[in-house]
Amino acid sequence: MFDDVLHGKKAVVTGASRGIGEAVAATLMRSGSDVTTLQRGPVSPSLLRLADELERSLTGVSVDFADADSIGAAIAEIGAVDILVNNAGTQIRHDSVDFPLADFNRVMQINTSAVFQLSQGFGAHMVARGEGKIVTLASLLSFQGGLRVPAYAASKGAVAQLTKALSNEWASHGVNVNGVAPGYVQTDMNEALLADPDRFRQLNERIPAGRWALPEDIANAVVYLCTPYADYVHGTILPVDGGWLGR
Ligand SMILES: NC(=O)c1ccc[n+]([C@@H]2O[C@H](COP(=O)([O-])OP(=O)(O)OC[C@H]3O[C@@H](n4cnc5c(N)ncnc54)[C@H](OP(=O)(O)O)[C@@H]3O)[C@@H](O)[C@H]2O)c1
Repeated sequence: MFDDVLHGKKAVVTGASRGIGEAVAATLMRSGSDVTTLQRGPVSPSLLRLADELERSLTGVSVDFADADSIGAAIAEIGAVDILVNNAGTQIRHDSVDFPLADFNRVMQINTSAVFQLSQGFGAHMVARGEGKIVTLASLLSFQGGLRVPAYAASKGAVAQLTKALSNEWASHGVNVNGVAPGYVQTDMNEALLADPDRFRQLNERIPAGRWALPEDIANAVVYLCTPYADYVHGTILPVDGGWLGR
């Protein structure tokens, strides 16, 4: 999509086994980047086929973002990179009166603490070299509270603030830290909403664009923020939501 603008760049994408992360990794490779994906399971077979076709380097490192030691080991193994996309995330739904503390802490660890640890680990190399791009995946729930998802809303509010905090310190060192806030995207994370025809229809009617996003809609915005076209974009949270927040 961005031709070969990222030729020779090394990128890390978390949670690229499926969904938005898989689309981000594919778009980065199509834009010239070599990619390392971080997730629990094996590298996505469709990404492996694409890497073959495009003659890009694609490596997978197994990490559990619930475990800080496993994240630290992955950062040490990979070393310096040009681009970090903090995409992996999780969702747990309960009424707030019943929400188990262990579930709350798990969501905060995977969605927020892991993002800080990864950004710090890879960002330190970028700051030392005077260049780099970090993109976080925020959410509509960085702005709104949602229903039955207090941990997710808290974690994504924190991701938006963390993005700005890191940008404030690192922009003057040539490192761009920005976030993308997707609207409703057709991925496994929204299985419960997609399986409920009434809720699906109600949401569609509320989206000015009249449709849910595809993972590629989000990936295009993420990869834009990884290119030199976004060199003067710092500390922003870019909604890619079909117009939802403007309504
Ligand atoms: N879908 C939406 O509508 C939407 C809207 C706003 C924001 N977002 C955000 O966008 C990002 C991607 O969402 P998505 O919809 O593509 O999600 P998804 O389809 O559920 O995929 C989540 C990815 O994160 C990985 N992951 C989750 N927990 C992990 C853990 N403990 N350790 C390692 N990897 C883990 C998964 O790996 P495994 O395959 O190993 O589980 C998978 O690759 C998330 O941060 C999400 O919060 C999504």
